[in-house]
Amino acid sequence: MAEIVVVDSKQAAGELVAAEIRRLIEATADTVLGLATGSTPLPVYAALAASLLTHPLDVSRVHGFALDEYVGLPAGHPESYRTVITRDVTGPLGLTPANIHVPNGDRATLEGAGADYERAIDAAGGVDLQILGIGRTGHLGFNEPGSSFASLTRVKTLAPKSRADNARFFASPDEVPVHCITQGLGTIRRARHLVLLAFGAEKAAAIAAAVEGPVSASQPGSAIQLHEHVTVVLDEAAASQLVNGDYYRYIWANKPAWQGI
Ligand code: GLP
Repeated sequence: MAEIVVVDSKQAAGELVAAEIRRLIEATADTVLGLATGSTPLPVYAALAASLLTHPLDVSRVHGFALDEYVGLPAGHPESYRTVITRDVTGPLGLTPANIHVPNGDRATLEGAGADYERAIDAAGGVDLQILGIGRTGHLGFNEPGSSFASLTRVKTLAPKSRADNARFFASPDEVPVHCITQGLGTIRRARHLVLLAFGAEKAAAIAAAVEGPVSASQPGSAIQLHEHVTVVLDEAAASQLVNGDYYRYIWANKPAWQGI
């Protein structure tokens, strides 16, 4: 079962996950991080940046792989995930730009882009810790309902609900690309530790389905139930539809400190 951690605030969630990432880098300089975009992981990046400022650590050998990218946005578009990762992660954490990878969403060279990305992840030794958010459709990365649990990095069509959700970042809803390239659920499941974060009542149903619902391709988030090391970090609102919430809180309260997350 995934470990469910319910915290008081986004900041507390960020600090918990940042501490684990820091611990990994201290142990292994060439740690490979799986990087999510969206608003959810921002407290993790902020907490890690603050920690690196007060207690510097060599992060020059850390590698990062973004989960996904829009297809067809011009290079340098402010909402391309390449730009977002540079702005929110690579820059603030002082990572080595050449070590940070984002799937290639350029239409002209899209055909081999998925296989190239899989090879790059393999060449880096696989992802040690994969940060994940979840969409209201239940998507992980951009694996919309129906995505195979064995899927690898490939081009997908965004669900209308996901395009509507992401329209807030664009000048108009029509500007949100229809296609994306995303790590598959099979790619994500190969990461050694999955850390799924969610905040707010609008994520409560997707989280309940992911954690407690039947394992089903109709709920991509439920793929986490097939992984041996998963940590789900939630605020109270995102945890509000969990049937066994009290039990998860009890487990966390009684967790031996040496276990970490
Ligand atoms: C985005 C990303 C996902 C993210 C999800 C939730 O569009 N492709 O990786 O987890 O949708 O976004 P947010 O964290 O902003 O709610």
